[in-house]
Amino acid sequence: MTCIRSEIIGHGHYLPAKELTNDDLAKIVDTSDEWISTRTGIKSRHVAAEDEYTSDLAVKAAQMAIRTANISAEDIDAIVLATVTPDNTTPATSAKIAGKLGLKVGTPAFDISAACSGFVYALTMADNMIRLAQAKTVLVVSAETLSKITDWTDRNTCVLFGDGAGAVVLRAKEGNGTSEDTGILATKIYADGSQYDNLLSNGGVSTTQTAGHLWMNGKEVFKYAINSLTQAAEEVMSMGGVTSQDLDWLIPHQANVRIISGVGQKLGLPEEKVIVTIDHQANTSAATIPLALSESMEKGLIKKGDLVVFNAMGAGFTWGGALVRI
Ligand code: UT7
Repeated sequence: MTCIRSEIIGHGHYLPAKELTNDDLAKIVDTSDEWISTRTGIKSRHVAAEDEYTSDLAVKAAQMAIRTANISAEDIDAIVLATVTPDNTTPATSAKIAGKLGLKVGTPAFDISAACSGFVYALTMADNMIRLAQAKTVLVVSAETLSKITDWTDRNTCVLFGDGAGAVVLRAKEGNGTSEDTGILATKIYADGSQYDNLLSNGGVSTTQTAGHLWMNGKEVFKYAINSLTQAAEEVMSMGGVTSQDLDWLIPHQANVRIISGVGQKLGLPEEKVIVTIDHQANTSAATIPLALSESMEKGLIKKGDLVVFNAMGAGFTWGGALVRI
């Protein structure tokens, strides 16, 4: 039966110029390249300049996505930004990005706050808008400047995060309702509010009137991440009527290479089908998946027609997955 699918027609990414290696961090806190590499898989991360904001990173990734989609900014019917590091408390940073990109006046713009699951949440909302015929072309952006809410004196957290942005352009396309269609084939999002205190920024507008700093119960997050990421991937594959044998790629949220390999193994995927970018990007929260997707497409690794699962987990806890044929 024919149906509307949201096809990824453009991709973009941007990393700030400044790179911070593990050796650079060892000069600031009591850590080592050896500890960070073996425990997390991270070798270096990018850090925004003081006057470089989330919107600046987002605009660069979005411009690349618009260019690769071969459309103009006026063709966009809605913009969704996933971030936990907005430029201002209000308005939504997506409105600033819309202005900078020159989107048509009247184009809806909103932010989604779902931490590291932000891209999967934003993709789900954009796909729903397209399938309900509320929009034909939607720009989905994820951008973070986590360096601005990092406690640079805390070795438990400061080695883990990075700044960056990724974007995709989705466009409505008629499909046959089978897993051979290109576009988003299934999405599923979840949350468990009982885990609120295990991963958070310890400040906020209503509580401390500050943005706070990132804090996490690493071991709890680690355990929950492996199970929830696996569950989300299995769920979207089952919804789409495929198995892990049919997959060309898994693009998991990049928080720890040990979590990534644990999930790959649980899903029975060979290592070479699991995209890993954490080595040079660290954890950029909502941005890890579109960054990894766009880099992999630019390199020619991920190609048109490939079957891919995105899965993410983060603060909330939130988690989710998407099954997509590129
Ligand atoms: O994106 C949202 C999702 N986030 C995640 O998925 C992160 C999940 N958690 C993790 O990735 C891991 O739990 C961490 C990488 C955060 C920590 O790894 P771990 O293997 O769980 O280490 P640990 O917390 O058990 O710490 C082991 C030791 C401790 O020392 P003692 O108490 O054993 O003496 C820490 O103080 O390592 C110490 N340590 C460090 N040592 C050198 C912690 N951070 C560092 C550091 N350098 N940067």
